Amino acid sequence: MSGKIQNINSRRIWDSRGHPTVEVDIVTSEGVIGRGRAPAGTSRGTREAIEMRDGGKPLKGKDVSQAIRIIQTKIKPRLIGKWLDATEAIDHFLVKEDGTSQKVNFGGNTLVAVSLALHDAKAKTDGIPLWELFAGITNSTPIIPLPEIQIFGGGAHASNRVDIQDFMVMVPKATSFSEALEVTSEIYHSAGSILKQRGILTGVADEGGWWPCFSTNEEALETLVKAIELTGEKPGDRVVISLDIAASEFYQNNQYSLDLEDKKYDTEQWIEILKRWLTDYPIVSIEDPLAENDPEGMIAFTKRYGDHYQIVGDDYLVSSKELVKKSYREGACNSLLLKVNQIGTVTEALASFEVARSYGWGTIVSARSGETEDTAIAHLAIGLGCGQLKVGSFSRSERMAKWNECLRIEEVFGENNFAGSEPLRKTWWFNQYVGN
Ligand code: PGA
Ligand code: ZN
Repeated sequence: MSGKIQNINSRRIWDSRGHPTVEVDIVTSEGVIGRGRAPAGTSRGTREAIEMRDGGKPLKGKDVSQAIRIIQTKIKPRLIGKWLDATEAIDHFLVKEDGTSQKVNFGGNTLVAVSLALHDAKAKTDGIPLWELFAGITNSTPIIPLPEIQIFGGGAHASNRVDIQDFMVMVPKATSFSEALEVTSEIYHSAGSILKQRGILTGVADEGGWWPCFSTNEEALETLVKAIELTGEKPGDRVVISLDIAASEFYQNNQYSLDLEDKKYDTEQWIEILKRWLTDYPIVSIEDPLAENDPEGMIAFTKRYGDHYQIVGDDYLVSSKELVKKSYREGACNSLLLKVNQIGTVTEALASFEVARSYGWGTIVSARSGETEDTAIAHLAIGLGCGQLKVGSFSRSERMAKWNECLRIEEVFGENNFAGSEPLRKTWWFNQYVGN
């Protein structure tokens, strides 16, 4: 069954930081409504699709009336009457009509909302869940992903109180998604209790992780290990650590500047610090360890540690197929962080995933620091069968909505379809970085 696009409605809604964002409804000839919403990043890569914002004084320049006007006057007239079956062709058409690699004319925020609405409308018309649509398009075996959950938030998400952005845990040896969440919930709350006891708890950061007042960046790692131990788990056994360094945020004049410690490092010295952390703490995955403008550093780091650690490119790759290809050729990174709005459309994001998969790279589907209640990315992670999902911490409902959606889908899937479950432990990243 198919249908045609009959109407497109768009509106301003508000994201998890209280900033305006775009929501799009695509109404089909069958009366189906597909919905999509744009998330928003703060620690953005410079090569990302740009956001169409009004600028000026009101709402800190973040209003989206221009973006909505573009949808109504430029996108809607071009899409009315098109068959929904052609999701890929429609995305390609929009990219071509925009005509720029960073989506300067239409805006990445407009395109992502339209593209997600389109896929939602298609899935609903076909009478299938969104994850099944994504699995079909990419010829993937759906898997319930391993959650990568932030415990402490820092960097641009917490006024740079600590320089490193995300201190996360993963429970790869949990037997189910539901068990992984249970273990993480205990760790999250034990970390909160430690901060409270020490009198350094100041609330939660943008993605729901505790907003810490540590004296050094490493204190966050030490505290995370303590929090894991407090729950009765042995760090590095069932529970492992994952970091998003987001190094581009503190790389200036060829130096990595840790403001918290008032220290500056050149690339080689910075790699030495990271090496010590990798050695001293049970870290299995590290995202953007070097800055997007330090390719030599990223290549050197991947060469030294890529066989033993998951090295994820976020700002470094901006979900771009071309940058994935370039990085693979140059030997930078071994995994892709996939954010649809970073590149613009679902079709482009799927293409980046397929290139990463063809290299044997891992992919982590990821949320942004500014989110909505949308759960499409939970479906994306499941449908692609990529095995990993990162949507922030274990509080704030824009985060929990995604974890909870995975729980519902896990119920449908039954046993043995969780990325950490016994039959799936043969996935590349599990064997290589976690061991058995
Ligand atoms: P952002 O950061 O959404 O603020 O860009 C998220 C991340 O770095 O993973
Ligand atoms: Zn990141």
